[in-house]
Amino acid sequence: MPLLEVSSISKSFGGNQAVKGLSFTVESGEILGLIGPNGAGKTTAFNMIAGYFPPDSGEIRFKGENLAGLRPWDISHRKIARTFQLSKPFGDLTVLENVMVGGFHNQGSRSAARRKAEEVLAFVGMSDRMGTEAQNLTVVDRKRLEMARCLATEPELLLLDEVVAGATPAEAVAMMEVIGRIRQSGVTIVMVEHVMRVVMGLSHRVLVLHHGETIAVGDPQAVSRDPVVLKAYLGARYAHA
Ligand SMILES: Nc1ncnc2c1ncn2[C@@H]1O[C@H](COP(=O)(O)OP(=O)(O)O)[C@@H](O)[C@H]1O
Ligand SMILES: [Mg+2]
Repeated sequence: MPLLEVSSISKSFGGNQAVKGLSFTVESGEILGLIGPNGAGKTTAFNMIAGYFPPDSGEIRFKGENLAGLRPWDISHRKIARTFQLSKPFGDLTVLENVMVGGFHNQGSRSAARRKAEEVLAFVGMSDRMGTEAQNLTVVDRKRLEMARCLATEPELLLLDEVVAGATPAEAVAMMEVIGRIRQSGVTIVMVEHVMRVVMGLSHRVLVLHHGETIAVGDPQAVSRDPVVLKAYLGARYAHA
């Protein structure tokens, strides 16, 4: 049984059909890359999986359980975590406090939540930022904070929404290393990313969304050579890279 099974989900906003009959599976232990032009429906797909709004139609199953009707809080308890593309940390709280908020609900006490927060901040390489107010972080450190906040909930499935965007090449390499270690620790990952060397380098399979529909899915090499994908998305990206 796949860990996550998305079956023909659709979502419209007014007359705008953002996701159209999207289906895919995620196997336990894999990294699935989700790519496609801006507006393709990637974040909308994450929002449906994480329970921020329900699909208009279709079904999402996690470990065989239908997630229909579950709220974000319930989904977090089922061990699915997602980062936000536009992270909104509590600006006047420190990095440590922000992560403790994320980890409270499954840690028995404040001290356990603190230990967990320290552990995940070390894991993402932010031990030296624990006392910094979140509003003073760089864009890249905000993304790292997002990942730490998720890890504090001890997810089995982690949805990463453009966590490498805005990073310098050196920061991107460091972020790839962190994502690789998250997977090695046993977390299954779906990753939305525009930085091709990151998504192609880390993903076992890549799914390309275009206008809310899958136009290709397969291993990174095959997808990056697919003429349909080159025309719709990658041609332009590689030309500008
Ligand atoms: N909450 C929302 N309300 C209205 N329209 C939305 C909302 N979220 C996304 N959309 C629209 O849905 C489409 C897909 O957006 P999105 O999922 O954010 O794309 P991506 O993450 O691939 O860039 C876009 O046309 C976007 O304007
Ligand atoms: Mg998006």
